[in-house]
Amino acid sequence: MSERKIVVLFFHPNLKTSKVGSALSETAARIPGVLFRDMYGIYPDYLIDVKREQQIAEAHDLIVFQHPVYWYSCPPLMKLWIDEVLEYGWAYGSGGNKLHGKQMLNAVSAGGSSEAYSSAGSNRFEISTFFTPFNQTAHLCGMKYANPHVLFGARGLSQAEIESECHSYENLLQNYIRTGELP
Ligand SMILES: Cc1cc2nc3c(=O)[nH]c(=O)nc-3n(C[C@H](O)[C@H](O)[C@H](O)COP(=O)(O)O)c2cc1C
Repeated sequence: MSERKIVVLFFHPNLKTSKVGSALSETAARIPGVLFRDMYGIYPDYLIDVKREQQIAEAHDLIVFQHPVYWYSCPPLMKLWIDEVLEYGWAYGSGGNKLHGKQMLNAVSAGGSSEAYSSAGSNRFEISTFFTPFNQTAHLCGMKYANPHVLFGARGLSQAEIESECHSYENLLQNYIRTGELP
């Protein structure tokens, strides 16, 4: 079977201050077989080219939403992308089958620790619970929703820890290209 194709849609409203998102981005962008797109750079005015985005989504097997966790969810341009690109009759509903069989992955950085994202922690829920709307969005569009890839405690990481996280993200993407499998 031919190698799978990945598009990474990176949504970070403030790349200048980003430490981990920018490092993960550089990692993703240099992998052959990955189309990396800095969405705030492409759409600084929030005017999304819906047809172009749909063409790109159709041409890839895995859609990665890479973003920092903002208020237990995603940055606003990503929500707008979902609202506008996943049209009725294209992504879901009558005739809406263009994403069927593809996979969706949230690759995120979170300020909170993994302990905080538990029933006993300050955020009270697992991060996958907060991401239920993405999971169901994928399901409605006939896509498989992968386990979120999460970098916890993003603000307190050392350079060595960031490099190790980049390595693990790189392995995940390269392994998907080769095997079609995600953890
Ligand atoms: C507006 C805003 C909202 C945030 N909300 C959350 C949140 O709900 N949960 C969390 O764990 N971290 C939250 N954070 C922290 C960011 O997720 C964290 O700083 C980011 O992932 C670090 O990545 P970066 O170095 O690429 O900016 C928030 C940060 C900002 C600026």
